[in-house]
Amino acid sequence: MYAEWWSDPEVQWGFCAEPRSADQIRSALPELESEARSAGHWTELVIEADGRPVGSVWVSHWDLDSASCELNILIGSPVDRGRGIGSRALTLFARWAFPRMGLRRALLCPRDDHYPAIRTYRRLGAALGDIAPDVMTWRGEVACFREMELSPEMLPPSHPGDRLLGEYRPNEKRPP
Ligand SMILES: CC(C)(COP(=O)(O)OP(=O)(O)OC[C@H]1O[C@@H](n2cnc3c(N)ncnc32)[C@H](O)[C@@H]1OP(=O)(O)O)[C@@H](O)C(=O)NCCC(=O)NCCS
Repeated sequence: MYAEWWSDPEVQWGFCAEPRSADQIRSALPELESEARSAGHWTELVIEADGRPVGSVWVSHWDLDSASCELNILIGSPVDRGRGIGSRALTLFARWAFPRMGLRRALLCPRDDHYPAIRTYRRLGAALGDIAPDVMTWRGEVACFREMELSPEMLPPSHPGDRLLGEYRPNEKRPP
């Protein structure tokens, strides 16, 4: 599933990443786990819509002194994008993560030319910052990144009916 998502051209372009096979993803897990151990946390949740997994949302790169971390999202297939799932999932996740993890702010760093991502983060209330000083060369093009920042008080309310899996009561029917 993750390998399929990372084979999508927009995911690769959005993260300036190369495709990852299932084996590569599996073999990267020890490094991610060690980063999670040293940074304190790495939390990633799968997004489910229409009763199937459609993407994931995660926090990483914690700065414990400033109580901040990076917030990331991907919707794995073009058919699931532009349906409001990304903004709803980010809202739900951020509303859960801020108080639970004692976060004061979350940093988002989309490509400066990634209109859907910037628009999604603006919809959440994220403030538009400067262009980040570090640029990246990916497949021969220079990519610049926009610094964006989200605070708990900026977040809109969650969409009615959107919930984390653990919030369902035993035997309660989940929406399709
Ligand atoms: C960025 C991403 C998460 C957005 O999720 P999404 O579910 O498609 O976004 P939504 O449907 O919730 O739309 C949110 C906003 O973005 C706009 N938007 C979404 N896709 C768009 C597109 N292709 N073109 C223009 N605007 C778009 C919507 O109109 C909406 O804005 P509005 O509320 O002002 O109308 C998704 O495109 C994605 O996963 N891309 C690939 C991975 C990636 O690049 N991740 C982000 C790395 S920083």
